[in-house]
Amino acid sequence: MTSQPDESDIEMVVHRFYERVRADEVLGPLFNDAIGDWPLHLDKLCAFWSSVMLTTGRYKGQPVPAHRKHADRIDPAMFDRWLALWAQTTSELLERPAARAMQEKANRIAESLKLALFFKLPS
Ligand code: HEM
Repeated sequence: MTSQPDESDIEMVVHRFYERVRADEVLGPLFNDAIGDWPLHLDKLCAFWSSVMLTTGRYKGQPVPAHRKHADRIDPAMFDRWLALWAQTTSELLERPAARAMQEKANRIAESLKLALFFKLPS
């Protein structure tokens, strides 16, 4: 049983996931407008997941500002959709422990992105 994905699992999951995202009626329009260079985005996301799951340090970016740019088009329900497609894709392509590991990480990162995007101190 493999409890972590390897680089080729990550590549497969990321590519399939964004195929689904692009075709999704809730998420597709924003992603298709925001991302001009899909091969570059997919490389970046493979590097991101490699850093998250395998601590390779391949990703050097800043997810919070990247999402803040699009805050006017992102609402909390989109995160549920994103996580549902992620759960579906990882469960389909990976053994259960590796799928669960990627789902847990995504849930945590989604929570922190949501806090960064939507949490406002009362004024
Ligand atoms: C980049 C949308 C959730 C990880 C992006 C970009 C968009 C986007 C439009 C491209 C930003 C740009 O370059 O202009 C969304 C939406 C989400 C969501 C609508 C859910 C509602 C997540 C989650 C993760 C994630 C849960 C991680 C688990 C990333 C990363 C990038 C990215 C790593 C690349 C940032 C960079 O340029 O370095 N996302 N995202 N996103 N997203 Fe998301």
